[in-house]
Order: sequence, then C-alpha cells, then structure tokens
Amino acid sequence: MNDLLGIADLDRATLERLVESSTRFRRSRDYGKGALAGGRIGLFFEKPSTRTRVSSEVAAVELGAYPVVLGQTEVGLGSRESVADVARVLDRYLDLIAMRVFDHRNLAEMAEYAQAPIVNLLSDLEHPCQAVADLLTISEHKPVADSVVTYVGDGNNVCHSLMMGVAKLGGEMRVICPPGYEPNQDLLAQVVGQVTVFSDPMAVDGSDVIYTDVWASMGQEAEARQRQEAFGDYQVDADMLGRARTDAIFLHCLPAHRGEEVTDEVVDHPRSRVFDQAENRLHSMKAILLDLLG
Ligand code: CP
Ligand code: NVA
Repeated sequence: MNDLLGIADLDRATLERLVESSTRFRRSRDYGKGALAGGRIGLFFEKPSTRTRVSSEVAAVELGAYPVVLGQTEVGLGSRESVADVARVLDRYLDLIAMRVFDHRNLAEMAEYAQAPIVNLLSDLEHPCQAVADLLTISEHKPVADSVVTYVGDGNNVCHSLMMGVAKLGGEMRVICPPGYEPNQDLLAQVVGQVTVFSDPMAVDGSDVIYTDVWASMGQEAEARQRQEAFGDYQVDADMLGRARTDAIFLHCLPAHRGEEVTDEVVDHPRSRVFDQAENRLHSMKAILLDLLG
C-alpha cells in the first residue's frame, strides 16, 4: 500500500491485514508504542472533525510520530496555493500526509506530486479510515464474510467505503436508499453481484448489521430540507431494527442527527455499537499509519 485514497483501491489481502492489525492495537494500548519514532505526520482538515482529528493525532503520538495539524484557513489548498505546490512543499517536511477534503480529485493530485503516502481522512467519494474501523467493529460481532451488512440512507462517502470493504471481505452487502440517492455507479460496477441496492426499507430482513449515516453530509447543508423529505421513510427506528436478526447490531460513523436518520432509542439501544466503533477509529488509524510507514 503506497497511499490510502479509497477502499476501492485496496486488494483483499491488504484490507484483511489492516483489520487484523487493528485488532492487535485494540487488544493492547502498548502495542506498537514508539514504532514510528521520529516520523512526521501532517493532518489537514478542509472541514470539521472530532473523531478523525483526535484519533489520528493520538494514534500518531502513541506510535512515536510527530503530528502537525493544519486547517484550510492557513493552507488555502487550491486557493492560496495550487494543490500540486502544496504537495511538493509538504513533501519536504512530512513522511505522511493525511487529508480531509471536499473534492476527492485533490487527493489524487496530492498523491501524484508528493512522494509521501497520502491518506484520505474523508472526501466526497470515500471515508476509508472509517471503513477499516467499521470492518473491525463488525468482525467483533461476527466474521464479515458471514455477515449481512445493510446500510440504510444516503449512498455517500461512508456508504461507498463500507460497501467496497464488505464486498472485498466476502460479506453480503445491501444498500437501502431512496431513488436518486444511490451509491456511485462506477463503484457499484466494481462490486456487481456483491452489493444489492434496494429502495424498499423492508429489505433489512435478516441483517446482522444495520448501518446509517446523516442524510445531508458536510457541504450539502443547503439540501437538508429537500433530503429530509426524500429520506422520511428511511429512518432507522426500533421497528426497523426489529426486522433484522434478533442479535443484529447497529452502527453509525457519527456524528448522528438524532431524530433524523436514527432515533434516540436505536442509538442508545443495548445492541448499538456506535461508541465501540468510534473507539475503533483510534486502533484502525494506528494500523493504517504503521502499514504505510512501518
Ligand atoms: N466519523 C467521523 O469521521 O467523525 P468526524 O467527522 O468527527 O471525524
Ligand atoms: N457522510 C458524512 C460523514 C461524516 C463523518 C459527511 O461526509 O459529512
């Protein structure tokens, strides 16, 4: 693995290695301590973040690396300076550049002009670091290959990385979304026969995992009202959870908009794993950094 731009770019063996390595970090906080001593890691954010920002900074420090956190106000990616020049400059200071951006194409351009590995901390297309944590969380419940994972809601970045990951690890993936909000067609074309798209919310029957995310992602705030109407029948509530397997777990990348895509009752349900999932972001981020730099 040279960069981590999307789960779509990974082969099955690499993804399995990342999840397996994440489990070792989950078992012991001391695992890998100092393994990246002296490493210099850039963490760039073009939009807000809590989990990703904190888990990646803590992961870098616990592995012995030095994190440098940067925001768009100071860098001006593509406005104050061209993406290619930002890549050439940061490359002289940093061993790895992790970035949260609006436009996925900026990550590809960074990867073209920087020698240092580029890690996607969320773009409009994928959220691969989230997916590695999600696969770890699912595997703590049941092997991914034996699981029916159902994502309900917007066919967005989180959905894309999850569906590519579940498909690569041999699980059954369903995406339930209103017409017009389906996942990216190019990605779907890569997982024909492994990911099924439904518009009927009843399609959660028999699921081991129910997953949802916000209806309007960061940058789509202006569409929030229109999306609330389109997604009205797709809220994950206790009835929907009740149609899945009796031991099915609930996942959400967070932040959740309680009362919109999911009810309080489901987020706070005994079978909700959302805070384990958030914790797993730290373990999986260590696995990703170590894989790229170790
Ligand atoms: N799940 C996730 O990426 O959360 P943040 O936006 O808070 O980083
Ligand atoms: N789909 C959401 C995920 C946030 C972690 C967004 O892009 O805003």
